[in-house]
Amino acid sequence: MTYKVGYIIGSLSSDSINRTLMQALMQVAPDDLEFSEIRIDNLPLYNRDLDSDYPPEATALKESIADSQAVLFVTPEYNRSIPGALANAIDWASRPYGKNSFDHVPAGVIGASPGGIGTAVGQQTLRGILSYCNARQMTAPEAYIQFDPDAYGENGEVKDPELQKILTDFMQEFRDHVARVLTVLPRD
Ligand code: FNR
Repeated sequence: MTYKVGYIIGSLSSDSINRTLMQALMQVAPDDLEFSEIRIDNLPLYNRDLDSDYPPEATALKESIADSQAVLFVTPEYNRSIPGALANAIDWASRPYGKNSFDHVPAGVIGASPGGIGTAVGQQTLRGILSYCNARQMTAPEAYIQFDPDAYGENGEVKDPELQKILTDFMQEFRDHVARVLTVLPRD
């Protein structure tokens, strides 16, 4: 049995440190997790006038979430909150009213920043949003990653043993969380 994990990178940057973090997470993840990216970079700004006629990019976003058995958010903190691009994607996915794509979806949150608190404040904001959206979040462990470029190889392999352990434990716990949630709330 494998679990299909859709991941959302909260940054649109071509050299995103959060994308590097995601590469590292995939390298240390248990073998029974299968990853695919859920795109957010092509979305127009959410407008509820379009609720009855979603643009194709927003429909594709909702379909990608529906095709995933869990969603992992890997995001920067912007101004002690979440990036606008991520908030916009969540708005699209949570609507139209009654068709919230995150309802009962197993979810995880992690992020990296050059700063010492490693996206801690942004993650709390995201957790509040995901609670409202009724996602089934992994609440622990939390992981606030202060990004050190020397800790990662070219393809995201983790060179620092301490970081390797943190990320490996995080992904093992995430896998167990997903498995537990899907036992009672299956998503086929
Ligand atoms: C930031 N950055 C930032 N860092 C942080 O730790 N807390 C913050 O509140 C913010 N705020 C913020 C706002 C905006 C608009 C930008 C562009 C940047 C710095 C941020 O952590 C840094 O640019 C990371 O490299 C962003 O992650 P990605 O895009 O590299 O994944």
